[in-house]
Amino acid sequence: MRRGNHYIERAVELLQAGGVVAFPTETVYGLGCDAENEAAVQRIFAIKGRPTAHPLIVHLGKASEIASWSVEIPTVAWRLAERFWPGPLTVILRRSARVPDAVTGGLPTVGLRVPKHPVALALLRALGRGLAAPSANRFGAVSPTTAAHVHEDLGESVDLVLDGGPCEVGLESTIVDLSSGAAAILRPGGVSREDLEEVVGKPLPIREGGPVRSPGQFQHHYAPRAEVILTEADQLATRAEALLARGLRVAVSTSEAIVELPPKVEQIPLPEAPQDLARALYAVLREVDSLGCDAVLVTLPPEAGLGLAVADRLRRASRSGGSVVSSYPRSEGGER
Ligand code: TXA
Ligand code: MG
Repeated sequence: MRRGNHYIERAVELLQAGGVVAFPTETVYGLGCDAENEAAVQRIFAIKGRPTAHPLIVHLGKASEIASWSVEIPTVAWRLAERFWPGPLTVILRRSARVPDAVTGGLPTVGLRVPKHPVALALLRALGRGLAAPSANRFGAVSPTTAAHVHEDLGESVDLVLDGGPCEVGLESTIVDLSSGAAAILRPGGVSREDLEEVVGKPLPIREGGPVRSPGQFQHHYAPRAEVILTEADQLATRAEALLARGLRVAVSTSEAIVELPPKVEQIPLPEAPQDLARALYAVLREVDSLGCDAVLVTLPPEAGLGLAVADRLRRASRSGGSVVSSYPRSEGGER
C-alpha cells in the first residue's frame, strides 16, 4: 500500500509503460490504465475476468477534456459537469475518434467522469491522459472501498495499488446517458436522482437494460459469496430461525432496530443515514463472507437520496433479482 507523491510519480511511469494501477476514487477503488493503450485495456479485462463487450469509464482530470473524448456534447452535459465534477457522476456521450474500440466494446458512446478523490486527481493531472478504469474487483463481485480490499481481490495481478484510505461515498458513480435526446439514469449511484433532476430540470427515468448490457445492470452483480436475502423487517427473526434450522450460518444486516434475534445469528448493524449506509455497505457485504456466513438477511432502505443506489445494489446482490423472498436453499453458480 502506497502513499505520497513519490508513488504518484511511480504510478505515472507504470501507466506510461502500459501498466495497470489501482487507485482510490471517492466512490470505489478503480483499476486504471492509459485509455489509449489497447493492450493495457485488454489486460484490465483479463485481470477482472470481465467480458470485453462491457465498456469502461474514461476518467479525466478536468471537465473541459470531455471535448476531446466526445462529440455532439449537449449543454446539459456541461451543466451537470459544472455542478457535480469533480464527483461521483459518469456521463455517457457520443464518443470521439480518440476513444479506442477496446474501451467501449465497439459502442458509439463513451462513459466519462472526473473523480473527486485527491489521489485520483493528482494521478490524472500528473499523467495528463485519460484513465480507463472499472472498479478494482473481479467481475460481478463486491467493489473495493479500501486498498486492502483491492489486495484481497486482485493481489499480484496489479502493478501498483495506491492507498487513499476508505472511499468517502462507498458505492459507484451515478451513470447518466446523455447520448440521445432522452436523458436517463443507467445506474443509480453517488449523486442522487433528486440532485440530478434539479439541474436537468425534468424527471430522469431509470433505464433498465437498454441497448447495452452493462455489468452494473446484470441482475446478479455486486454480490458476496453468501446468499443475500431481501427481507421485511418484521420477518427477520423468523427467516433467520428457518435458515438456522437448515444448519446454515446466518447474518442479519439492517439499519432497522431489531427486537430479538436467535443467539446464533451474526448481527452486523448498518447505519441509518443514507450517506453512512452507502459508505458502509460494501465492507459489510465483505464482512459477511469473512465471517463464513452462508446467507445474510437484509432490509431495503427508503429509496430516496443515496438510499436508491443502496437498494439497487442490494437487489442486484440478492439472487432473487429484486423481489422480497422467503428463505431458500443455497444454490450453486451465479455470476461473480
Ligand atoms: O464510481 C465508478 O463509476 C467506478 C470508479 C472506479 O470510477 N467505476 C466503475 O466502473 O464502477 P465499472 O466498470 O465497474 O462500471 C462502469 C459501468 C459499467 O456498468 C459499464 O457497462 C457502464 O459503466 N458503461 C461504461 N461505458 C458505457 C457506455 N458507453 N454506455 C453504457 N454504459 C457504459
Ligand atoms: Mg464494477
